Amino acid sequence: MCGIVGYLGKRQAAPVLIEGLYQLEYRGYDSVGIAVFDGKKLRVVKKTGLVREIETARQAVGRVGIGHTRWATHGDVTVENAHPHTYGNIALVHNGIVENAAKLREECEERGEAFYSDTDSEVIAHLIAAEYHGDLLEAVIRACGKIVGSYAVAVFCEDEPERLVCARMRSPLIVGRAKEGLVVASDIPAAAEEGAVLYSLEDGEFASLSGDEIFICNAAKSKIKKEPIEFSEEGRADLGAYRHFMRKEIDEIPVVLRDSREEIARNFCFSDFCKVLCQTEYIQIVACGTAYHSGLCFQAALERVCRVPADVFIASEYRYMDPIVRKGTLLIAISQSGETADTLAAVRLAKRRGAHIAAVVNVKYSSLARLADTVLFTQAGREVAVAATKSFNAQLMVLYLIVAAMASIKGKRSPTLKGFESKAARAIAAGEAVQSWVPYFAGAKSAYFIGRGEDMCVALEGSLKLKEISYLPSEGYAAGELKHGTLALIEPYTPVVAVLMRRDIAEKTMNAVHEAYSRGASVFLVTCFEEYCGGKEITASVLLPKCPPVFSPILSVIPLQLLAYYTSLARGNDPDKPRNLAKSVTVE
Ligand code: F6R
Repeated sequence: MCGIVGYLGKRQAAPVLIEGLYQLEYRGYDSVGIAVFDGKKLRVVKKTGLVREIETARQAVGRVGIGHTRWATHGDVTVENAHPHTYGNIALVHNGIVENAAKLREECEERGEAFYSDTDSEVIAHLIAAEYHGDLLEAVIRACGKIVGSYAVAVFCEDEPERLVCARMRSPLIVGRAKEGLVVASDIPAAAEEGAVLYSLEDGEFASLSGDEIFICNAAKSKIKKEPIEFSEEGRADLGAYRHFMRKEIDEIPVVLRDSREEIARNFCFSDFCKVLCQTEYIQIVACGTAYHSGLCFQAALERVCRVPADVFIASEYRYMDPIVRKGTLLIAISQSGETADTLAAVRLAKRRGAHIAAVVNVKYSSLARLADTVLFTQAGREVAVAATKSFNAQLMVLYLIVAAMASIKGKRSPTLKGFESKAARAIAAGEAVQSWVPYFAGAKSAYFIGRGEDMCVALEGSLKLKEISYLPSEGYAAGELKHGTLALIEPYTPVVAVLMRRDIAEKTMNAVHEAYSRGASVFLVTCFEEYCGGKEITASVLLPKCPPVFSPILSVIPLQLLAYYTSLARGNDPDKPRNLAKSVTVE
């Protein structure tokens, strides 16, 4: 993870770097730092915590600099481990993991070089310094040749103060021309401004920025010509009147559903892709976290509506289980960021073994979008809060549109997806009632989410959301499995949320509700069936609009997203920036 920025031009670098880092905070916020060259000396300011910790460094004078916001992988969260790292005349910011760092560091130490941090990144500064003989680009290329792992780096050398050099290997990086200068950044919003022209680097590419020139090349220094990428400045994070991005993003769900549906309607490959899917021998789905839960919902709908089997894999497991990729396998990777390292690794493996790769992805210029043979974009817009909300709903919309299209090709009846936008707006309004549930959750030791079928997939997502932003231990569970062990954990007042959107199994889920209630649990219900809301075993409920049960996760997840948000607030947390997490998990 981590976010890197660089600036070289006519403006003061520090404010540009700091503004860029605010836009990249979603990539990590354990610690932060910038280095600005004032014409004589390189000034480095590093702090643990959020970008705001270095606000005073805005005053730093100098027209060239680099910056970093960190999500710790190697080494604790300390000022020493924060970037930029310097060695000799070299200063560097790095996003990625140097897998052979220990060996490289040993070699440096044998030469008598001292290290000041526990990071793998510092070793890159040493490698570059050792390779530097008057040409920074040459030194960076040579140093990168020794690194095993992933990196996006921006490098400054005091001997060439009018230049920045960067390199990319499996960590995103863009370079470009912005207002009165040249920029480097991990992601578009950190560099997007009116009139900017941005280019995305590919793995194994390097860029040298100096004066007004951007020279992009490969390791042999052969020039690479690039088309600028399209971007919109709207992608910049803006809270408007909201306190938190997460709450704002939940309110955006209806619009995101509409935009995603319209995007698919415009995608001229969509119906051909669905025809191919109908004839596919073996469908595999890979994803992580919330996107994995979308995959589970998709699998349930594919099987129930189209009678097409599919296997869903946690991406980080897929690559280490020697997966069977039969002839005719089509692998669908689901990801908001398109940069999740585990998902990308699974995709690369499946591709090597001959699978056709389709991606359902939100970020246009992401690595996943570029790797896939077929791409279906969700239109969730920029999601800033670390906890995924609207991107989940958007993924479900796109995945369910696939299900509906496949059903029609196969001559089967599919429920409609019409009207989900307005139903989602009603679900948000109804979901606000969860604020009255919060006292039961805020002080609890643990919480449970139960359901059957697609309701269980939503229970898993509700539990993940609560854990990640409220830090309350919780489990999502198949309602029928409770009695096979987990029921032992239910104590008086343990909060249990039951999701109940399918009439045919409602009574069965209610059995689990009775079992939990009899052990003293406080049971909360998310349902579209009014008749289940009033029972003595239900402490409180959210009544959702009726919808086709197989697509109901689009709605039933909304109260659970809100519950996580309000519980997080009640526990004094920042819902947008949960501890230990980052939005884009670009390390394995
Ligand atoms: C949870 C969350 C994560 C992501 C996961 C995959 O709220 O945000 O679990 O869903 O890291 O990320 P993407 O979808 O970017 O591949």
